[in-house]
Amino acid sequence: AIVEHTFNVGNLSISQLCQPDRIITAVNGQLPGPTIRASEGDTVVVHLVNESPYGMTIHWHGIFQRGSQWADGPAMVTQCPVQTGGNYTYSFNVTGQEGTLWWHAHFSFLRATVYGALIILPRGGAKAYPFTKPDKEEIVMFGEWWNANVFDLQQMALLTGIPAGPADAYTINGKPGDLYNCSAPNQTHMFEVRKNETYLLRIINAALNTPLFFKVANHTFTVVAADACYTTPYKTNVVVVGPGQTVDALMVADATVGRYYMAASPYDSGIPSGPAFSKTVATAVLEYAGGANTTSPPALPQLPEFNDTDTAHRFLSNLTALVLPGKPTMPLAVDTRMFVTVGMGVADCQPEQTLCNRSRTMFASSMNNASFVPPRSTSMLEAHYSNATAGVYTRDFPDQPPILFDYTADASNNATMQYTTKSTKVRTLRYNETVEMVLQNTRLIAKESHPMHLHGFNFFVLAQGFGNYNQTTAAPQFNLVNPQERNTVLVPTGGWAVIRFIADNPGIWYMHCHFEAHLDLGLGMVFEVQDGPTPDTSLPAPPKDLPQC
Ligand code: C2O
Repeated sequence: AIVEHTFNVGNLSISQLCQPDRIITAVNGQLPGPTIRASEGDTVVVHLVNESPYGMTIHWHGIFQRGSQWADGPAMVTQCPVQTGGNYTYSFNVTGQEGTLWWHAHFSFLRATVYGALIILPRGGAKAYPFTKPDKEEIVMFGEWWNANVFDLQQMALLTGIPAGPADAYTINGKPGDLYNCSAPNQTHMFEVRKNETYLLRIINAALNTPLFFKVANHTFTVVAADACYTTPYKTNVVVVGPGQTVDALMVADATVGRYYMAASPYDSGIPSGPAFSKTVATAVLEYAGGANTTSPPALPQLPEFNDTDTAHRFLSNLTALVLPGKPTMPLAVDTRMFVTVGMGVADCQPEQTLCNRSRTMFASSMNNASFVPPRSTSMLEAHYSNATAGVYTRDFPDQPPILFDYTADASNNATMQYTTKSTKVRTLRYNETVEMVLQNTRLIAKESHPMHLHGFNFFVLAQGFGNYNQTTAAPQFNLVNPQERNTVLVPTGGWAVIRFIADNPGIWYMHCHFEAHLDLGLGMVFEVQDGPTPDTSLPAPPKDLPQC
């Protein structure tokens, strides 16, 4: 079947947290934007009409885009932005994947308000779930809200090299909830439940810069999927989601009839002194049928401390895949091994950074000391397709071995190790090559847990750990039987993660930190996957309406 939508992107006037009305960029006047519901095997067609004052692209986070590479969406990587007044039709199949994904703007900070859920049901509908059929499903989507204009925030960050400050609130389904000072009663999302019914919560972290803990007072969860990949059922009273990640969890309404807070609080794995970030809590209210007249305030769950890495790591490393017949299994042979450092650094001021007036003082993020800058003249996918890459990108990632040092030691003042350069480099892969990547976090400037996202593929997470990666001691811990499959891995703070994927999707695929602040500073790289032997394993021609720069 074809699932068709029109996304009119334009101004929406909205007031939150007692502020005067703000003009934000939103799809069809909604925050979050419209939910797309499809079944596995369907074709999704979205007509984007850009009536906003900014350039716009939409990324379908977690969709493979096999055969529809031109619909992936990252600005200047697979397409030029759709200019004000312009339009573009995204069309792609949702084949071989099901579960909870989402979509978001992939240009500037605009995904702060341009985002929504993308739900793929099994072909047979809810009765085909490999777990207890829920009575009802609910989307629980987290975001971050700034009172300031987010496009201006990002411009300022680019000009100065100093990341934007923390959000003014976290949100659940677009609303901060009533624990914030001055949050109006209609700014709390309400979920209605019936006693003893089972709910499938489709939990999505659309926040820009913050991993979140999620709890519901007096209720527990059974996790059944993560990043639209089924997991072995996992019982927990707390869910942890990095930006970009999703978790599907069953929750039985088995508490006393009444009202309960559902709450999301930040997980910040930073150095104890910490960068300025908001420790506030977003809430929604779970209300039982017949429980509305309860006069006492809802019960609040006890949330983990903001720096509770043990709780985060336990949840994230305990998930395993539900092995089902016909699903991809872990490739045991590896063609290419890569060791890549991930972290912060500094770079020389770039000519366009007019507000950066001292050399080597602007922040820059990098992978293997290469800080990624998107090209300006044309998209990388167009350059790749027409074999005209000169002046657009080079094929020398990584062009140097990573600087080896004790990544767990505090190197915040080591100027030599922090120094990185800006470039647009790709790593070229043969069609069908199996890649194993070690992602090693560094502790240059800040010790953080980076949510690393790969476009175009899911990957298996073989192992995660702390300290400096050591192949000899890590390899015996690899899960080669039922490793979790994901599109985004929260690389442990002061640690590493090992992932594996098969490059069976030709095209240009971005890999980057899903902290918007880090993405802007260059924490990314790009894979260029060559064509396979047949037309249907090759990159198709661009659609006629592909926007031009
Ligand atoms: Cu959801 Cu390139 O990102």
